Amino acid sequence: MLNGSAGYAVQKSMEILVALGEIFGAKEMVQVSSVQVAGVSYHNLGDAGLEYLENLAKAGAKSKVITTLNPAGMDLENWRDLGISENFAMKQQEIIATFQKMGIIPSCTCTPYLAGNEPKKGDHIAWSESSAVTYANSIIGAKTNREGGPSALASSLTGRTSHYGMHSDHERTAQTKVIVRTKLDAISDYGALGYATGKKLENKIPIFFNIEHPTLEQLKSLSASIATYGGTPIFHIENVTPNQTSIPSETITIDHNDLMTAYEQLNDENTNVDFVALGCPHCTLEEIRKIAELLKDKRVTREFWICTARQTMKLAEQQGYADVIRESGAKFACDTCMAVAPLKGRFKVLATDSAKACYYGRGTNNFQTRIGTLTQCVNAAVTGKWN
Ligand code: F3S
Repeated sequence: MLNGSAGYAVQKSMEILVALGEIFGAKEMVQVSSVQVAGVSYHNLGDAGLEYLENLAKAGAKSKVITTLNPAGMDLENWRDLGISENFAMKQQEIIATFQKMGIIPSCTCTPYLAGNEPKKGDHIAWSESSAVTYANSIIGAKTNREGGPSALASSLTGRTSHYGMHSDHERTAQTKVIVRTKLDAISDYGALGYATGKKLENKIPIFFNIEHPTLEQLKSLSASIATYGGTPIFHIENVTPNQTSIPSETITIDHNDLMTAYEQLNDENTNVDFVALGCPHCTLEEIRKIAELLKDKRVTREFWICTARQTMKLAEQQGYADVIRESGAKFACDTCMAVAPLKGRFKVLATDSAKACYYGRGTNNFQTRIGTLTQCVNAAVTGKWN
């Protein structure tokens, strides 16, 4: 592959993987069974990124393993309703078409494990998108480093990745015990837990104790938040996660005060909400069911996005949840999210149930943020006030 006998696209891809392997001291390549490519939004890729992709596609690049895409910069069908410009939409459609030419599935979701790309325990995979990487390593037990968009694409086109980091069992072992001494209930509590743990441990690998029967939605939230505020691509939870690990002696505690401090730091003072966004990572059908229940017979007065995969929205339509949501004035933002859509300058105060959305809302879009339960977010969309 490296000498060019498999073509230009494969050669360029292998050059990226070899360079990464050399930087990180990998001794060999390993076959991957699944890829998730981030860096899909025209907002991030720009014309240079689009040209890079087009050159690969022209050179006959084809994915070798199941490959799905992270969210794009817009809802691929309903972009006008979300206030996206014609020019942006045209460029975004070109990017998606180019990925499709390479055999890549335009799932456009950060929860590929809910959209038909679900590896098995022990599988080597190459995923970008930090929340999905952390979910795959921790909850599924697959093995992936935090790839960037180009290296994940290179793995798709070669079916390989360099064997280092999370691909080695000894790198996945817990380094600190985290005793949770507080009740966790709302999805946002798990975001706050990820924030508090990430700040205390940075990129050390935790094993949590005293977390009982978390739901998929709670684990998805924890995966996103701990990766955002700490940097670890894996965590363990006693009696919940599937990976074997030794138990470290170093111990920290997360108590009620730590959680309250996390909430304080994630909440800005402004309570005049003008944008509500749920689904970071993308909403499951169960989350959408709950949102519909809360929105029944109500009318929203603020822009309200429910970010999810298109196929999840279709199921919500079948179940009648989508009608309730649309009748309230709230909108589905399929294929995209509040962080990758071009939203800068459109809103001032974001309300959400996601700690990760606070990070990107502040950093990328200069929003002030409010974080809380689904009920608080829905109330804010209806009244425009946070309480
Ligand atoms: Fe997904 Fe966007 Fe959040 S990609 S994890 S919804 S920042």
